[in-house]
Amino acid sequence: MEKTNREGFASNFGFIMAAVGSAVGLGNIWGFPYKMGMNGGFAFLLIYLVLAIFIGIAVMVGELVIGRKTGLSPIAAYRKLSKKFTFLGYMALACPFLILCFYMVLGGMVMRYACGYLLAMFGVDTWGVADISTYFGVFTTNGTSMVIWTLIFIVINAVIVAAGIGGGIEKFCNIGMPCLFVILLIVIVYVAVQPGAMGGYQFMFGFNIEPLKTDFLTVLKTAAGQMFFSLSLGMGAIITYGSYLNKKEKIQKNAVIIVVMDTLVAIMAGMIVMPACYAFLDGNTKGGPGLLFQSMQMVFHNMGGFIGNLMGFLFYFLVFIAAISSSMSLLEALTSSRVDRNVEAGKAPNRRKIVIVFAILVAIFALPNALDGIGAGVAGGATLPTPAELFGMTDAVKGWNDCWLDFYDMLSEGILMPVGAMIMAFAIGWIWKMDFVVEECESSGCKFWGKAFFNICYKFITPIGMLVVLYGQITSYFF
Ligand code: PFF
Repeated sequence: MEKTNREGFASNFGFIMAAVGSAVGLGNIWGFPYKMGMNGGFAFLLIYLVLAIFIGIAVMVGELVIGRKTGLSPIAAYRKLSKKFTFLGYMALACPFLILCFYMVLGGMVMRYACGYLLAMFGVDTWGVADISTYFGVFTTNGTSMVIWTLIFIVINAVIVAAGIGGGIEKFCNIGMPCLFVILLIVIVYVAVQPGAMGGYQFMFGFNIEPLKTDFLTVLKTAAGQMFFSLSLGMGAIITYGSYLNKKEKIQKNAVIIVVMDTLVAIMAGMIVMPACYAFLDGNTKGGPGLLFQSMQMVFHNMGGFIGNLMGFLFYFLVFIAAISSSMSLLEALTSSRVDRNVEAGKAPNRRKIVIVFAILVAIFALPNALDGIGAGVAGGATLPTPAELFGMTDAVKGWNDCWLDFYDMLSEGILMPVGAMIMAFAIGWIWKMDFVVEECESSGCKFWGKAFFNICYKFITPIGMLVVLYGQITSYFF
């Protein structure tokens, strides 16, 4: 057995909470409901579940194996496995960096909303608008406050990650994740008893596969991209957490728990947002990216009074926990890559200094997203050209060139992630072979199950699935 002298998770519970924390994030509470809202409800849910079972679990096991077998973060891990694949490690580093540059902005916005509702419970109005539906526009076009909230969120992340795996991330997630579950349940129950909520459940669970007949590729591509992002796959975070996992813990069991919990939270978040849209917004579930902020704020406004503010606070607080437990895993993926390099070179790990440097870099590259109000417009007097303007493109409807968030997302979630996942699965299936996975999983003293299934997943289903996703993305972006 290989020995690593890195600090790791103190318990398997801590590992699961941290990994579930990484998986459960804005992708579940924001992305999942809004993509489901725009892609036909039940049809989307169905495809999502199929993909999570047939691709998600296998890739999750694969990443945990790579991390734990090497005991290293992505770059060093891939280098150790095969020099030829070191580039995958670099891709798995570029991806979290790009994602963090918009994730931190969104996290800051969520914090602002949580604080707004907390104060509103005590009668302090911080929204400052006559018509609450205009607040989102006012906030996102105020460059100064967007930047300030982003910075606050980055600093909190940095403080936790600087404290290390056991001392920072695990401690936060051990408390944060159970809290998140309890709050989810409270808000679900409250929304469920509102008149009209039924329509939301019908939309989510009523059997309707019509949308698959008209636009199968779009639903498939959206659901697959969402599934990878939501499970934190293809971006180095799970490899990194796997590298801290104790040799005696069971990888397959943990992977299934993470996938099930993540999917459960996505569905639970849908069970807040969809029925709330039916009960308070006349069934308008198509709020798109504005769903989390604009539509939900209208929901809490229409609930009214103290209870509206209380529910608003609970909701945004839970989104805050979800967001920060994800962003810290991304920051950890970046941090550990440098820490490992220092250790390899026989130097001191210097974790704190590395966290500070990455936090500053992320803050700088997050600026375009904060300043253009995640696409809501050029903000606060700063004339920030959109990517389309910058690249001299007249056609700004490609879904990647109209705002900075879409540009960063195109590079990371759109291209790097499917390419990385495709090559990783291919390498496991065809080069390192199944024994590579089986051996590591069985090193914790349990029998590997479903070998044939996993083998087909790595060899065929995942690489082909990712190729289809990539094709769908590229055609939608560039043609
Ligand atoms: N899984 C997170 C979410 O659903 O919001 C986002 C994320 C975290 C993606 C960590 C990738 C990652 F490595």
